[in-house]
Amino acid sequence: MNILVIGSGGREHALVWKLAQSSLTETMYCAPGNAGIAGETLTANGNSVQCIKIGAENLEGLLAFAKEKQPDLTVVGPDNPLSQGIVDLFNKEGLTIWGPNQKAARFESSKAFSQEFMLRHEIPTAKSGIFSNPTEALAFATSIQGKCAVKADGLALGKGVILTSNVEEAKNAIQQLMIDKSFGDAGDQIVIQEYLEGMEVSLHALCDGHGYLLFESSQDHKRALDGDKGLNTGGMGTYSPAPFISDHELKSIRETILDRWVDGCKREGIDFKGMLYPGLMLTESGPKVLEFNARFGDPETQVYLMRLKNDLPTLLMASAEGKLDQHRLEWDDQAATCVVLASGGYPEAYEKGKTITGIKDAEQDPQVKVFHAGTGSNADNPIITAGGRVLGVTALGKNLKEATERAYEATEKIHFDRCYFRRDIAAKAL
Ligand code: AMP
Ligand code: GLY
Repeated sequence: MNILVIGSGGREHALVWKLAQSSLTETMYCAPGNAGIAGETLTANGNSVQCIKIGAENLEGLLAFAKEKQPDLTVVGPDNPLSQGIVDLFNKEGLTIWGPNQKAARFESSKAFSQEFMLRHEIPTAKSGIFSNPTEALAFATSIQGKCAVKADGLALGKGVILTSNVEEAKNAIQQLMIDKSFGDAGDQIVIQEYLEGMEVSLHALCDGHGYLLFESSQDHKRALDGDKGLNTGGMGTYSPAPFISDHELKSIRETILDRWVDGCKREGIDFKGMLYPGLMLTESGPKVLEFNARFGDPETQVYLMRLKNDLPTLLMASAEGKLDQHRLEWDDQAATCVVLASGGYPEAYEKGKTITGIKDAEQDPQVKVFHAGTGSNADNPIITAGGRVLGVTALGKNLKEATERAYEATEKIHFDRCYFRRDIAAKAL
């Protein structure tokens, strides 16, 4: 198979790494990729993965490249090209591409759409309102004592959510999103949800337009600092499985969330082929959806793909072709933990171009894989920092404790100026 992967983060490195292990994969391109992706080789023939300088949002450029190379499968990592309609564009040209079409990608690209969909199909979520008028938004926030999650409707790199604990804070959040427009047009419309208490988990359901295969559980750590303090980030570390989800909760997740969602999609003519990734809160009154994403999570993918035993090209092809009922997922019994190494300052301003050392040393342990997120290279250095989240140090272990210790031991071997990471990944589960 000839495969094209779109994206350049840690998630895409994990996808490339796993796709490259398949005996079916003969050629692989990644647009635009990163320094780690460029270092991967294919198990089938030892060929290198080829990174090509076309950005993930340059749809015309990607289409022209795909028409020339005719990949058997294109795999889309990030949300932006999905919401721009890359799947529709490729399908029109007869190219097989994995991911939801533009209409289906609205589950992520519009929080208002998702919230209304959940209401229509009785999917448990937070009490909420949708507003394009700041005065009405404030009235609703006041009615729930300002204990809110105030969310920009559109895509905002996972950062368009402000959590507030009183009316004053809620008022400032509404001001920031709707009037100061700190996330641009994404804040023309906002969703305000009541603040939900509980354990947060990430679910992944691989869908094929008819049904879904539910991945094992995982948990991300969204806040920048230990103890869930500091600003919201794209994700500072993950582990899988999340042992605190009960069988009862899983049953309820399937029946009240996923089955109703599939049914709702069928009734509304939404053909969702790709990954549905709901963020959930396990509340005292049962699991509730905080948001839907329409892609693999980052850094959830890093732990999932260390544990997934299936052949990934086969699975994604089956998802794109509506044939998932012929497959079942197989997981390594071991646990996996991923610690994200970030640039000092992230998620606010940070510097780039710092030399990274110690990755090879960290990977001496065969149970450790260092996935690159924001990395690049220049004339003097093969690997330098080039983003906020720089690396995802990921390890397997016979249990969560061992996987986590191993990930942290490997982390200690890697160095770059102003590197920071959370020291409490998986602590809640241990
Ligand atoms: P989202 O992008 O909607 O997942 O929100 C980002 C993060 O904000 C989530 O991962 C949660 O940690 C938190 N969050 C979002 N909505 C709520 C809510 N209704 N109650 C409590 N926390 C929330
Ligand atoms: N793990 C956070 C995200 O992918 O949105």
